[in-house]
Amino acid sequence: MGPHNSIYNNWVFTVLILYLWSQSKWVKIIWVSGANSESDPNSLGQELLEMARNPEFFDWLKKVRRRIHENPELSFEEYKTSQLIRSELDSLGIEYTWPVAKTGVVGSIGSGSQPWFALRADMDALAIQEMVEWENKSKINGKMHACGHDVHVTMLLGAAKLLQQKRKALKGTIKLIFQPAEEGRAGAYSMIQEGAIDNVQAIFGLHVSPYAPIGTIGSRPGPVLAGAGKFVAIIQGKGEMRDPIFAASSTILSLQQLISRETDPLDGRVIVLQAAVHRCTATVDFMEEIARHYPPTVNDKMMYDHVKGIGTMLLGESNVLISPFLMGAEDFGFYSQKIPAAFFNIGIANKTLNSDKPLHSAHFFVDVDALPIGAALHAAVAMSYLNDNAAMQSQ
Ligand SMILES: *[C@@H]1O[C@H](CO)[C@@H](O)[C@H](O)[C@H]1NC(C)=O
Ligand SMILES: *[C@@H]1O[C@H](CO)[C@@H](O)[C@H](O)[C@H]1NC(C)=O
Repeated sequence: MGPHNSIYNNWVFTVLILYLWSQSKWVKIIWVSGANSESDPNSLGQELLEMARNPEFFDWLKKVRRRIHENPELSFEEYKTSQLIRSELDSLGIEYTWPVAKTGVVGSIGSGSQPWFALRADMDALAIQEMVEWENKSKINGKMHACGHDVHVTMLLGAAKLLQQKRKALKGTIKLIFQPAEEGRAGAYSMIQEGAIDNVQAIFGLHVSPYAPIGTIGSRPGPVLAGAGKFVAIIQGKGEMRDPIFAASSTILSLQQLISRETDPLDGRVIVLQAAVHRCTATVDFMEEIARHYPPTVNDKMMYDHVKGIGTMLLGESNVLISPFLMGAEDFGFYSQKIPAAFFNIGIANKTLNSDKPLHSAHFFVDVDALPIGAALHAAVAMSYLNDNAAMQSQ
């Protein structure tokens, strides 16, 4: 045999081996894991975002959101919203616990074993008459989703759908917390009381922001939102030199001065009222039985870095912003008191759509391009948290 023949035979042989090998189980495993993005957070995030932006998926997101938007329900009355969430979870084949805190739902995806990671959405609407004329305007007079909780629920359902498709790759368990009554009634507190974050290691939440451009997210490490509380001070006094009106007005002035002049108002102060004011007696009622005070929302540094990293992979570095500390309050603060937490804004502002109107405005409107971003961010944050922490625990 000449050299030419030998090369030819070797070539045929090599092709035959390659062909047989390509039919084997082993090459399939190698190919699958080579194409598998589950452990690479960069391609994982991109893949989830592409899945959520797929026209069919995006259409489903928009429809779910419109259904919730048309039927707003106030705090602890989210019966239809809760029903919609449960029927979507049913059709996705996701198990859940219900009722938690009256209307709340806690879904569960994954192996059932640790680590457990939670994603949270609030469900309630506001007593505001919607003034935006559009085809899926609120059908309920005097009630409106003017704080974007319809969007938060939809993003979390979107994440549920993405995660359910990836369930075999989940290295732990993801809890989907749909909570009632964020608007002043401390639904988060009730959810915690009823065990929603028992055994959960960390939690993530999102809030739409008309103050940040569409396509961006933002937050900051440490305190991100203020606490909130109300109090009633009753000042009594009788007789000469004991003028309760004078006492009350000078107390208000001193409090005002204390907060705005002597300290940076963003510096978070505790006000101590003295009982004896200008020879009058004063009692202070912090009204905890009517409205539970919201603690400040504080971002755990590691959780903040984790979400920032995932956000950067999804949207690019220039679209992950450091947002200012805000004086608004959120009952997400209750979770952040208990376990490492991160709370991020997701931009919805787009001048063309008038989606830059303030939260709680009757003209509030949403650029729904934020829906797939929110769904993918939730899913990627949770999945990669499990990857990192399952690896750490097995080491
Ligand atoms: C939204 O409005 C359109 C037009 O009125 C209607 O056909 C549709 O059923 C509404 N609801 C949803 C969820 O899209
Ligand atoms: C704002 O909305 C308009 C209309 O839907 C769209 O064409 C435009 O791309 C949006 N802007 C951004 C920055 O996404």
